[in-house]
Amino acid sequence: MLKPIDILNRFKLSEKLNLILLIIILIVIGINGLVLSQVLQKNAEREVASNAAMLIETMGAVRDYTSNQVNPELAPRLETEEQFLPQTVPGYSAREVFENLRKREQYSEFFYKEATLNPTNLRDKADKFESTIVEQFRQKPNLKELSGFRSFAGGDIFYVARPIPVSQQSCLRCHSTPEAAPKSQLTTYGRDNGFNWKLNEIVGAKIVSVPSSKVLADARRLQLLVIGILAVGFLIALVILNLFLRFSIIKPIMDMAQWSKQVSTGNMHAEFEHPAKDEIGILSNSVNRLK
Ligand code: HEC
Repeated sequence: MLKPIDILNRFKLSEKLNLILLIIILIVIGINGLVLSQVLQKNAEREVASNAAMLIETMGAVRDYTSNQVNPELAPRLETEEQFLPQTVPGYSAREVFENLRKREQYSEFFYKEATLNPTNLRDKADKFESTIVEQFRQKPNLKELSGFRSFAGGDIFYVARPIPVSQQSCLRCHSTPEAAPKSQLTTYGRDNGFNWKLNEIVGAKIVSVPSSKVLADARRLQLLVIGILAVGFLIALVILNLFLRFSIIKPIMDMAQWSKQVSTGNMHAEFEHPAKDEIGILSNSVNRLK
């Protein structure tokens, strides 16, 4: 059986040094890359998730504002005016505020939807994926939030979803039966959609989607940069160590070999000089004395 030391012994000093250093460098860079990718990926995910969480909280706050302040103010006009006032609707105000936010370029790829199984406005109809989220909220009333990544052709997104319960009796004015709803609502939205909701029933989910591809790509770029800097640093160290090995150890040893060859063939005048006070200097003093 060939032992590692036997293999090492076949190589020259500089080859041994480089081999050992290369193995160490590869191990260090490999471990670094793994740890770094975990940490940066987690950080990027946390950043995306905290963006989404803040937005969904904000939308909840806009809904509350409309329910508590705008709706009571405008509700009387719903009875008298022909035209329905969507400004009285919490979901409408949340969507409008979000659309305004989306006009700013850095938020143009953010999305907000009140995905609903039986919506008043068909635009809010939950698609297949969103329906499975709403169904999960309906089956588990204690579930307060769902989140995750979703891939699209345009790039990955991170979504956060929260249930929408029919939380107040006042919701039922417009969402219980067409007979109870303001007439102007029926003119605008018809009698077929968004009715028969029950108090405390979960009818849909607020879903905020934020783009995640860019944040994750930034994290990967940072990881490559750090590993690149590390590799360049190691490379410089490797070159310096090789130069040092050559001039401080290998060259004096080769000179000494040359010298001992001359002495062994009878040239007793040959002197071996090595001015440095290192171990090779000590050795050269000894061999000169030996001669
Ligand atoms: C004044 C009538 C009215 C009241 C009160 C009202 N809604 Fe609505 N709701 C509507 C209308 C009309 C829409 C469709 C608005 C639009 O076009 O975006 C709507 C939309 C929604 C949506 C989006 C899905 C859909 O149906 O299009 C949800 C969810 C919703 N309402 C839940 C609630 C909850 C919960 C409450 C009580 C806190 C409430 N609504 C109170 C009339 C009302």
